[in-house]
Amino acid sequence: MTRPRILVTVVAVLAVLATACGNGDNSSVELASGDIATVVEEGAALYATYCAACHGANLEGHPDWRTPNADGTYNPPPQDVTGHTWHHGDPTLVQLISEGSPFRESVMPAFGDTLTDEQILAILEFFRSNWAEQERTFQQQATERELVADS
Ligand code: HEC
Repeated sequence: MTRPRILVTVVAVLAVLATACGNGDNSSVELASGDIATVVEEGAALYATYCAACHGANLEGHPDWRTPNADGTYNPPPQDVTGHTWHHGDPTLVQLISEGSPFRESVMPAFGDTLTDEQILAILEFFRSNWAEQERTFQQQATERELVADS
């Protein structure tokens, strides 16, 4: 069961991000936001390598992602605000990307052997950088709810 490991990583990353958002002196704020920019950049590169072929170079997904195919599979959904990745908290998303989709017929691969949890969280940070404030807030609250429910 990988869930506790995922939680530890999510909590650690949240702590880093919380520090980064806090009010420090100017130099530390600059350094911290630089760190987030680096994480977003890393996430974007990983996304381009491992995810873009299905979810779209611009996170746009498949145009017909809501309608199931004849065999019951779905086409890749968008990862921008028009999709619903932002409805889920980090623990759920890390688990889904690491272990693959819970849908039995899904083509969504499991990336647990390819990507570390930190790399998956970097991809999520890249997604967040493309979402508006509203979706980012919603998703952060979902993450907090999931962490409380699991602790
Ligand atoms: C071979 C195609 C394919 C690749 C490659 C792929 N996905 Fe997916 N992904 C899908 C499909 C199809 C779904 C739709 C749900 C299902 O079939 O289970 C999905 C669903 C998802 C979801 C759930 C979305 C939601 O709205 O709940 C997330 C998050 C996701 N993918 C992230 C990723 C990330 C991150 C990568 C790269 C590391 C990736 N996917 C690579 C095909 C792919």
